[in-house]
Amino acid sequence: MGRRALSRKIKRVPPSPEAEALYVRLWIQEELHFHPERFPKLTSPELFGDTRPLELEVGCGTGEYLCALAAARPDVNFLGIDPVTKVLYFAARRAEELGLKNLRLLRSPIQVLFPLLAPDSLSAVYVHFPDPFVRSRGQHKVLNALFFEAIQRALAPGKVLNVVSDKAELFEEALRLALRQAGLERTHTERHLVGFEPEVKSRYQLKWERYELPALRFEMRKVPLLSKVGS
Ligand SMILES: C[S@@+](CC[C@H](N)C(=O)[O-])C[C@H]1O[C@@H](n2cnc3c(N)ncnc32)[C@H](O)[C@@H]1O
Repeated sequence: MGRRALSRKIKRVPPSPEAEALYVRLWIQEELHFHPERFPKLTSPELFGDTRPLELEVGCGTGEYLCALAAARPDVNFLGIDPVTKVLYFAARRAEELGLKNLRLLRSPIQVLFPLLAPDSLSAVYVHFPDPFVRSRGQHKVLNALFFEAIQRALAPGKVLNVVSDKAELFEEALRLALRQAGLERTHTERHLVGFEPEVKSRYQLKWERYELPALRFEMRKVPLLSKVGS
């Protein structure tokens, strides 16, 4: 069974009205695209009304990994982004079961949200098992040069972007682009890492592990600001 079949198996079951209102933001795509200035920035003050650090998962899918992070670290806020409503509903139901207070889920392709990312605002960014192809409306390849540029700007200095994939070709291209991005540096001396063992694995990680596909991984840090010579 492929990725499309796996995604088709998820039913569109909304969470309770309270959980939907708390967790899910279904902003209108056309308005986001043409009038990003009408929307709040993706920051803790705007999304949560506090100043806790904010971590972002791009393509969070059904949210197993993100919800587990949010449950383990209540002092940090977590934002999951995905263009597909039914997977966000699934994640919201899980968040409600766990009683999470520090999670928001936003329906959108990441590209449309670049204008809403504030400089130096994110404490971590995760991209795990991104789609290797462009699927339907609203879904675009995530890991391109514009993505690394936008994430470099949005990460706080010293904070980290974590990419995991089981697709060697996609992974190699992403690593090449990430290494070319000014202001990002690899956190490891190896070219890339193999294996990813979080406490809670995502739907896709569990799926591909059954096929014994290795998880390829790299991590890039935003270079801390260098003080000017002589200043
Ligand atoms: C293979 S799934 C992986 C989901 C999750 N990270 C996991 O490990 O289970 C890829 C996810 O990326 C989402 N996606 C596709 N294009 C995207 C885009 N342009 N921006 C954000 N998410 C996107 C898809 O809807 C899908 O939920």
